[in-house]
Amino acid sequence: MAKITLKDGRVFEADDNKRLVLALLDNRVDILHRCGGHARCTTCRVVFLEGEPDKMTAAELERLQARDLFGKYRLSCQILCENDMRIDVINTVSNSDLDDPGERPADAITPDPVWIAKPDVLVQD
Ligand code: FES
Repeated sequence: MAKITLKDGRVFEADDNKRLVLALLDNRVDILHRCGGHARCTTCRVVFLEGEPDKMTAAELERLQARDLFGKYRLSCQILCENDMRIDVINTVSNSDLDDPGERPADAITPDPVWIAKPDVLVQD
């Protein structure tokens, strides 16, 4: 089991290798997932305060870079609960004008994950 701690202090346990977005949903955490967990919308983004995984899917990297979000956020639909984490959820139904978080993502990561090492973030002077 992985211990998931939210910035607001809520703590819960998640089964190993469960998609992070599903662990959040199943613990009644308000989080958007507008594309249904396909690494397209980026609304499932989270900020890692501790325990950021060193690996990521190629789809996550491609989408974060395309939206100029790499180094700032991670996509919870592309992350497995493999270790303890402390995170901040960014996009919620209650802080948006939406009334629907999106279709529930499948149990397995979609698209089929191609795992890569998370590149270093270049810090510019
Ligand atoms: S990118 Fe759309 S739910 Fe994760």
